[in-house]
Formats: sequence, structure tokens, C-alpha cells
Amino acid sequence: MNQQTLVLIKPDGLKKSLTGNILTRLSETKLEIVACKIVKVSRELAIEHYKHMQDKPFFEELIKYIQGEMHDRKKVMAMVYWGVDAIQKVRQLAGATNPEEAESTSIRGSFGRITTKGLYENALHASTNEQEAEREIKLWFDPDEIIVDLYPTKIQEVKDTQKRVWV
Ligand code: CDP
Ligand code: MG
Repeated sequence: MNQQTLVLIKPDGLKKSLTGNILTRLSETKLEIVACKIVKVSRELAIEHYKHMQDKPFFEELIKYIQGEMHDRKKVMAMVYWGVDAIQKVRQLAGATNPEEAESTSIRGSFGRITTKGLYENALHASTNEQEAEREIKLWFDPDEIIVDLYPTKIQEVKDTQKRVWV
């Protein structure tokens, strides 16, 4: 069944120049990239993305981590991968959340680490199920930033709004 999944190359992945590596590994899946951008992650976006982790003792660290404050890289690369069994295929290649438990050949097993504070820096994020994928894709992307129609959309009149444009 065709699915879509959100993939984020996290700031540690960018800092370690792993983008090419990760994209090459993900290309083994033969899935299609249908959206891609570099995002400067606001605190609001970080909190919304990780809202299921709000009660964890490392929540503040996690928010700083995804915002890039620990790696002097205040950005992440956000992508939507699409195709047959996309969610499971990407999670499989990503490996377990804990990089020490992840298979050594997986992306997280190869490139992740646990910080001295106990935070898992695992180079990439991948949605866990269809519900989460929908929530996350809608959070990170507008419909027009994705080249296929994944979810229903509507046209909304937006009056008196300001938008930055090229001079
Ligand atoms: O990213 P994944 O879906 O595999 O795991 P999660 O349970 O949704 O946790 C989100 C992120 O929180 C992880 O990717 C880790 O960066 C971090 N985390 C951590 O540092 N320590 C844990 N015990 C669990 C998660
Ligand atoms: Mg998760």
C-alpha cells in the first residue's frame, strides 16, 4: 500500500555531513521524495512535533536538539517520502531509537550516539505510523510544497495578510 512518511535529517546529521549518506541509504528503498526543504525550526514547531514527549525528563534537551542549538546548525532537512510501505521501509533503514540498540548497519546504528546527558542523537527522524505521518506532514509542509495530493485540501480566502516577496 502506498504511504507517505516524514523524514527529518536532524542537526547532528547535518553537522556531521551525513546528508548524502542518509539520502543514499534511503534511496535503497526506491521510494520517491515528493517534498523537501531546509527548515529553521522554531520553538513552537519543535514543541508541537515532539508533543508526545512532553512529560519526559529530557524534553527541554530534545527541543534544543531539534532546533540545532547543540550543534551550531539551526536547521533541519525535512522531506516527505512516498511509495509502497514507506513508513516501515524508512523506519527499518533508520534503526531503533536508541542508537546503541539499533542494528549496526542501520543509519542510527552507524551514525547515532548517546550524549553524556543521555539524549539520543540519532541523525534522523522518521514517522512511526500513518496517523503520526499525517500529523507530522501537515505540521511541516503546506499542501503546495508537496508535488502530489496526499490529503484533502480546501481553498481559503486570506484577506489583508502580508507576505514577503522578492524586490
Ligand atoms: O524518533 P523515534 O520515533 O524513534 O523515537 P521517539 O520515542 O518518538 O522519540 C523522539 C526522539 O526523542 C528520539 O528520536 C530521540 O532523539 C529522543 N529520545 C531520547 O533522547 N531518549 C529516549 N529515551 C527516547 C527518545
Ligand atoms: Mg517518534
